[in-house]
Amino acid sequence: MRGSRVVLAVHFAVFVQCCSGYFNLEKENDCFCNLQGKVDECSCNIDTVDYFNNIKIYPRLKSLLEKDYFRYFKVNLKRECPFWEDDSKCSMRFCNVESCGEKDLPPGLKGAKNENKYTKEVNEQCSELNNEYDHLDTTLSEKAQKDIDLWNKYDDATDNFCIIDENDSDSEYVDLLKNPERYTGYKGKSARRIWESIYLENCFRPKYSSNLNLYIQNGILSELCLEERVFYRAISGLHASINTHLSAIYLLSDNKFGDPKGVWGPNLQEFQRRFSEETTNGEGPNWLRNLYFVYLLELRALAKAAPYLEKEEYYTGNENEDWDTQMAIKDLLGVISRFPDHFDEKIMFNGDKNLKYEFREHFRNVSRIMDCVGCPKCKVWGKLQTQGLGTALKILFSGKFDNLENTNSKKRFQLQRNEIVALVNAIGRLSTSIYKLDDFKNMLNNKGVNKNNNIFN
Ligand SMILES: *[C@@H]1O[C@H](CO)[C@@H](O)[C@H](O)[C@H]1NC(C)=O
Ligand SMILES: *[C@@H]1O[C@H](CO)[C@@H](O)[C@H](O)[C@H]1NC(C)=O
Repeated sequence: MRGSRVVLAVHFAVFVQCCSGYFNLEKENDCFCNLQGKVDECSCNIDTVDYFNNIKIYPRLKSLLEKDYFRYFKVNLKRECPFWEDDSKCSMRFCNVESCGEKDLPPGLKGAKNENKYTKEVNEQCSELNNEYDHLDTTLSEKAQKDIDLWNKYDDATDNFCIIDENDSDSEYVDLLKNPERYTGYKGKSARRIWESIYLENCFRPKYSSNLNLYIQNGILSELCLEERVFYRAISGLHASINTHLSAIYLLSDNKFGDPKGVWGPNLQEFQRRFSEETTNGEGPNWLRNLYFVYLLELRALAKAAPYLEKEEYYTGNENEDWDTQMAIKDLLGVISRFPDHFDEKIMFNGDKNLKYEFREHFRNVSRIMDCVGCPKCKVWGKLQTQGLGTALKILFSGKFDNLENTNSKKRFQLQRNEIVALVNAIGRLSTSIYKLDDFKNMLNNKGVNKNNNIFN
């Protein structure tokens, strides 16, 4: 009896603390009370996603992303910002990226000159495709053939929602495990400018929205059409995810005499500052909801591309590991495909043709803005996540991935290696953010329980 009363009391205390700000009267709704119910534009509940992600997806992704295939991301950090002169200098040493030396790379990625097996294969597949033109019309002149190659390239490029760092010589491989996304100290004018230009100059905005706020208040979001809302929610969700990471892996101490690598961990205050209703004009929970939205959107892309991704080799030159990676990805895709409530992309772009074009141009421009990010580590993760989202959008909306199940088994080249790496890592980021929200939720609850225990004892 006594035991159950204590449990009840604790439950009650948690409830009171959570939903009326009991333990901290001046901070109403500081917790997750408004983070409930349906995910906007989707058919499932936040709770459902929490369970599905934290139990089924997150652990799988975590081990998958440690595999060599996903661990090395090729990125150009030297391309100049096309829009303004970047005047920032990153003041913190934790901003910098350690790029990989040749010797650290798996055999399949080595050698800038000698093309690796992967690109060779891709080229073979491309020329196979080109041969199809020969069958159709053997009288093609060399010039026409060249033109068609160019068209192919162009078609591929216009399907892309991102500017891709392709084979340019300034690109380098970054080991993502060695350069985790976390607090960097990158803030102030330069950082603000990035988000300002994304929200104010590249998002669709309601006619009479104020430019004083970067975000669009939830109340007037309905003035936008579905596609425009989706664009905004995707950007906002990405932003929320990045801020969750910075709060979850915060620099707790930078003591030169202590651990030279710094001490890192969750910072609840930082999280509350960024997301509590009180400090965000009531919008914080909406931003977190957008995190769930973009998660479901990217997950849907993975499910849609599953028949294609299941046939990918995940080549790194290490046979055993490549086999493991293939098995792990099949397992993950299976779990994701069985999830019933993905975002439904078929409701989009059924009207105005121009809208799709605008949507793509806006997003491509956002990916260009990533070249303006002043802190190299933030740039790596910014580029990776926009490229991942861009790849998801390409899968959902380019039409190239429709009816994949029904097309013949011959694999056609659709995604570059770096696009796959970016997509899966981007989902890994969102998945980790949702997982970390749970930690913050527990931290908040425990804080309340401890206080209440003091009252009740
Ligand atoms: C990519 O590589 C090819 C062949 O090496 C070269 O012709 C082309 O200019 C390169 N593209 C870029 C964007 O550097
Ligand atoms: C691209 O973004 C820049 C920087 O925000 C902006 O000035 C420019 O107008 C945008 N261009 C397009 C085509 O949207």
